[in-house]
Parts: sequence; C-alpha cells; structure tokens
Amino acid sequence: MSASSTPSSSHPTNHSNKTSEAPDAPEAPAETLDAAQRILVCVAWPYARSVTHVGQIVGSFLPGDIFARYHRLAGHDVLMVSGSDAHGTPITVDADREGIPPAELVARFHALIVETLDRLGISFDNYTITTSENHYRVVQDFFLRLLERGYLFKDVMDSPYCPTDRRYLPDRYVLGTCPYCGFNDARGDQCDNCGRTLDPTQLIDPRCRLCGSVSSRIEIRATEHFFLDLPKLEPRLLRWLTSGKDYWRSTVLNFALNWIKEGLRPRAITRDLDWGVPIPLPGYEDKRIYVWFDAVIGYYSASIEWAAKRGQPGAWRAWWALDSAGRAPARAYYFIGKDNIPFHTIIWPAMLMGHGDLALPYDVPANEYMTMGGFKASTSRGNVIWTRDVLDVYGAEPLRYYLTCTMPETRDTDFTYDELVRRNNDELVGAYGNVVHRTLTFIQRNFGGQVPEPGALTQADESMLATVERGFTAVAVAIEAVRLREGLAAAMGVAREANRYLDKQAPWKAIKMERAAAARVMYTMIQTLNGLKTLFAPFLPFSSQRLHEMLGGQGELAKAGWRATRIAPGTPLPRPTPLFAKFDPPTPPDTI
Ligand code: MF3
Ligand code: ZN
Repeated sequence: MSASSTPSSSHPTNHSNKTSEAPDAPEAPAETLDAAQRILVCVAWPYARSVTHVGQIVGSFLPGDIFARYHRLAGHDVLMVSGSDAHGTPITVDADREGIPPAELVARFHALIVETLDRLGISFDNYTITTSENHYRVVQDFFLRLLERGYLFKDVMDSPYCPTDRRYLPDRYVLGTCPYCGFNDARGDQCDNCGRTLDPTQLIDPRCRLCGSVSSRIEIRATEHFFLDLPKLEPRLLRWLTSGKDYWRSTVLNFALNWIKEGLRPRAITRDLDWGVPIPLPGYEDKRIYVWFDAVIGYYSASIEWAAKRGQPGAWRAWWALDSAGRAPARAYYFIGKDNIPFHTIIWPAMLMGHGDLALPYDVPANEYMTMGGFKASTSRGNVIWTRDVLDVYGAEPLRYYLTCTMPETRDTDFTYDELVRRNNDELVGAYGNVVHRTLTFIQRNFGGQVPEPGALTQADESMLATVERGFTAVAVAIEAVRLREGLAAAMGVAREANRYLDKQAPWKAIKMERAAAARVMYTMIQTLNGLKTLFAPFLPFSSQRLHEMLGGQGELAKAGWRATRIAPGTPLPRPTPLFAKFDPPTPPDTI
C-alpha cells in the first residue's frame, strides 16, 4: 500500500507488514511508489558566471524541487543535490574579460545563486560547488578508476592554436560556423542552434575568441590528451537505452538514440587550460580535466560531501552503490534542460558503466526551452529575466506558480509578465486564496474562530471530501510520472471544486436561519482546506506552511505526510491573513 493511495490513513505503511496486518487491503495503483522508496534528485549545475535566470529555474531547479518535496511528503527517502559549476572556458572567458582570477568570479556568483535559490524555496540537501576539495578528490579517483579499467586512453589530438595569444583554443575560446546546421556563432564545444556537441576542429571558418584572429591565422597543432572510450561502451549504452525506457519522455529517448546512431567517437576529457581539476598523473601539469567530465561527477561527489557533513561518511552508498546483483539502491532522476541531454543520457551513463559500482540514471525528464516574450533567452541580447528581479517585485510563490503552469515539459513555452500577473490574480488569488480567505474569515465572524461541530454530513459534504481524497491520488500519480503541470492543475481543480461547493452551500444565507447547516459546511470546508494545503505543498511550500498554521497546525507541514488528517471540532484557529495578493498589470519596463 502506498501513502499516496490512502490519503486519510493515519500513517504510511510499507509492503513488509501488508500481508500480516491487512490481508484484504487493496493493492496500490501501480503508478505510485512504496513508502520506503529512495529517490535521488539530481539538478543540473549552473555555471557560476551569472545570477540565475528564470529559464534555469523552470528548466531544472523548480521541477527538481517540486519532485523532491512531494517525495519527502510521501514518506520516501530523498537526497537532492547540485551545485555551481565552476570550471571550463565559459568561466575563464568571463574572468579574463573582468581581469580577475576565475576563483574570485565563481565565489561571487556562487553566493548570489545560493541566495536566490533560498528565496525561491529550492530545498537542496546539498548545494555545493565544484571547487571543493572533496570534488577534486572524487573526480581524480573517478578518472584513475576509469583509466585502470581500460575506459580512458591517451592519444594525440588536433586543437586550434592562436599564434597571437600563444595558446591553444579549447571549447569556447574558438567560434565558427556549425558543420551540421550552418549556425555561424557556434562555439568550439557545442552549437547552441542545433544542440550538437562539437570538436573545435570541426568548426568552419574558426576565429579566436580572445583576439579575433580569423581562420587564416588559426593553426591546428597536435596536443596529447586523455579520451573516454565511448565506442567500447556503445553496445552497453544502446542496450540500456532500448530496454524498458518507455516511461522516458520520448523526445529525450529519441535524442539519445539518434546520437548513438550517428556513431560514438572517443571524447577528449582533458584540455590545455590552467583552470579545472588537475590530472592526477605526473607530466600533465599544464592540462586540466574537462569541465563536463568533472561537472557530471558532481552529482556523486555532492552526495559524498552531504554524507560526510552529517557525520555518516558512508550514507551516500544508499543512493549510489549497486548491490551484489547489480541493482540500484535508489531511483536517480536528473532534472536538466534539453541542451544537456547528451551529457546525461550518454556520457555520464557511460562514465558510470565504466566505473562499474554506481547506479545509472533512472529517468532524465529534460525540459524544452522557455522563451522570453517570444524570443530565445540570451544574455548577450539582453533578453534574459533574472530570477531575483522577479522575486523583488512578485515574490516566490507567484513565480513558482506561474513557472509550473508554463513548464516546458513537452514543448517550448513562453514567459510574459502579463501572464504571470493574470495567473496570480485569477488563479492564485481568485480561486485558491479566495476560498481560503472566505472560509477562515467566516469562521472567525460566526463561530468564534473555532472549527464548528458538524453533526451528520450530507452527500454534498461527503462528495466534497471525496474530491479532496481523489486529489491526493491524482497529484501523486502526476508528480511521480514527472508531469508537474498536470499535478498542479489537479490541485487547482480541487480548489475550484471547493469554490463551487461553497457557493452552492451559501453558508452566509444559512447562518441566519439554519446555523447547524452553516456549521456543517464550514467543518467540511476546513477539512477541504486541510487537504489543499498539502496538495499545493510541493508547488507552493511557503503559503502551504502558512495555511497549515492558520488551520491551527503545529510544526512543519513538510514533515506531516502526503495525506490529510481530520481537524477536530473545537480546534481554535488564529486570525487569518490573505495567502496571496493581487498585482496591478505590469508597467512598461516589466512588460515582455
Ligand atoms: N553547467 C552546465 C550548463 O549550465 C550544466 C552542467 S550539468 C552537470 O549547461 F551535470 F554537468 F553538472
Ligand atoms: Zn587569439
């Protein structure tokens, strides 16, 4: 039996005592998980080179957070990790431009990212940074293990070299035309237009990012590097991706399969750079491990760091270590944007297979893009919306609500301030906030601020309560399948039904002649709100906690379980304050 299928049971049970205690209990729907399930929530690591923009929030942080919050409520063991990605040429290019050491740049942005994530209520168990000593050690061990097991080899490769700057031009130090789609601003590591990862020597008409030297001056020089032997792992990868992945988003699976179909080539995992994790072998002092190789290991190193910090250095094993039969101890979900699909469906799984002892991803529910007022988000074109600017004006929950409603789960969506304000006013305030406030103020005014005695419930009351119970299953099933928009819509559906019920029962009329009827309706409404606070909790954690307190609840709602227990008649309720506030239509500088 799963907690989510039995919302009003007093405690979640697990399979082990099912047969002895409740032989006739109905089986849980196959769609929901057992109480003891372990869930690893991995969220893409943002580069520590800017504050976060709303595209990053909607693409990975918010879906990861909603998913983690739900699973914690449902009684599953959750570990949620990520951190700031500090290495690579995106960082050094910016640091060079500012004339400061990369370490200074990343420390500054890391602090700002952490602040924004806190304000938004993103509930990491560990949010760290790839400059940590722990990360360096774990990455170097990983590197040596792959080398020992024969999945890394040394080879000489050609790299663009700028004679003006007297240096190699790895990754983003070189720009040019994409050989696949013809986009003329492709970077040496990836084309932002078609999403393909590139080798810098593939660029047509390469030019140096530092001095602007064009192709006639750029040399190609040989340089020695380490390569990940993807061809060796290709059969295993293909077998993995073609067995039982029907629950994956088809766009993600197809992207990965197409990538394999084009043929996997060995990938260089070191670079001619002085910023990054050092290669743990003598003779490579002027080279570093490639940022993508170290960043994906971050999920694992952050879990190790989390365990060490809580004084249980082996605790990470419960999320990562395969058992003797090769079974994963947890389901690992990776919340990423679509530009990161190859790294999470091919390269990281290949690295994990090469390592041999660690769990592969269970699902990679990558999101599509969110455009900004109809245009692709782009820092250089100034078409980007910084999360903290939105937070300053609108606060966390209107933003969380709007972004979840508009999450690009199956296709690209568009951000506009007009829609943010409309959804806030019509839905958060107009539907959910309104039904809460009407109920709580009515009870203050007419029942002395105490939950009234209901007497016998009518069919209409019972049907309202049944709608709430069904809501627990509907929201659980949707979130577990990572259909978060659907989950939020199901919660809002219950709030709308509560409005209809309240309008129809019209306790403001009954109170004059038929006080008992009004009491019954208000009792039913209190139980309904008590359900709503939990149904919304994964999405709107702050207002859910406030509603919990306005319903006389103590402690943290987040620890109260995925169910609604009845609130007893006579329970005193504090004076209510509105959960949400209306906004004026956006003024021109806000308009997008
Ligand atoms: N920093 C990368 C980006 O923003 C994402 C890294 S995800 C990780 O595109 F898994 F590699 F960490
Ligand atoms: Zn140059």
